[in-house]
Amino acid sequence: MAGSGLKDGILAGKTAFVAGASSGINLGVAQAFARAGAKVALISRSAEKIEAAARTITDEGFEAIGMAADVRDYAAVEEAMRQAEGKLGKFDIVLSGAAGNFVAPALGMSANGFKTVVDIDLIGTFNVLRASYQFLNRPGASLISITAGQGARPSMYQAHVCAAKAGINMLTKCLAMEWGPAGVRVNAISPGPIEDTEGMRRLAPSDEAEQRIKARIALRDYGTKTDIAEAAIFLSTESAKYITGTIMNVDGGSELGDAGGSAIPDGF
Ligand code: HXC
Ligand code: NAP
Repeated sequence: MAGSGLKDGILAGKTAFVAGASSGINLGVAQAFARAGAKVALISRSAEKIEAAARTITDEGFEAIGMAADVRDYAAVEEAMRQAEGKLGKFDIVLSGAAGNFVAPALGMSANGFKTVVDIDLIGTFNVLRASYQFLNRPGASLISITAGQGARPSMYQAHVCAAKAGINMLTKCLAMEWGPAGVRVNAISPGPIEDTEGMRRLAPSDEAEQRIKARIALRDYGTKTDIAEAAIFLSTESAKYITGTIMNVDGGSELGDAGGSAIPDGF
């Protein structure tokens, strides 16, 4: 994998299913899975976008299929998985990362606005992970949900995302407990702010907002899609065979809190 510390072919012979993969972080992970040797199935709501996303992988000479399925629709997810299993074999890796976000105060959010994000992020993650169980290579499968710092820390104008991602964190741990005896590991990755993504275009739409965020991060920078892909690959290898139920922060230290020093009294 270009620019990676992980070995080419480390996922050879494996099949991965990635939900929410038409763009951004999840597409970056799907591409990295393929470069590491896995066959990859991708889903998102838009047939046009997901087929184009899959083509970015097949154009590099790797095996991939893209199918339209809304993660809010259990039957559609299950049908996409059935087709993926038929073409690519049982899944060794499942990554659930479909999400929606907009910045709005709770009083500027309708009940349907709140529900929409919870449905995509939390219910969608349940649907993807629950439906995948029958298609998993067991024991040995690695399931990964994509959460966010909002799942651990409250955030202004993000009540819907905070509630949904906190739910994903707990769901991840419960499934790790229930499915561990079958040799299925379930972990979450919590990305920090990642450059060149729709998430950050929505949360920090100006240069000034971006600089303000970076100044508060211990490592003083945004992360990259490759940073998240590396973590997802690691969690799916033998090196992680004793790791389950974790929320892995890949966030430059964002979770630690404000590292910008604004709370330090004058004179220090
Ligand atoms: C208030 C809003 C709103 C806004 C939508 N709604 N945008 N309310 N402020 N800016 C309300 C609508 O009015 C509607 O409620 C309800 O939400 C559903 O809207 P739809 O457009 O019908 O929903 P849908 O087509 O399902 O689209 C879902 C979406 C959209 C989340 C609203 O933005 C989307 O498709 N997003 C996917 C891409 C995305 O968000 N990527 C970023 C992921 S990053 P009413 O009552 O009017 O019917 C992420 C961040 C994590 O998750 C942390 C990063 C650091
Ligand atoms: P993105 O490019 O908008 O990715 C979201 C993906 O989800 C898209 O491919 C979208 O494709 C798909 N999707 C949305 N609703 C769906 C649904 N109902 N069913 C199926 N697919 C759906 O955003 P991103 O910024 O890369 O975020 C990716 C993940 O990382 C999310 O889980 C997000 O919460 C998390 N995250 C991001 C950051 C960041 O810095 N960006 C930080 C922390 C966590 P379609 O539109 O084609 O359906």
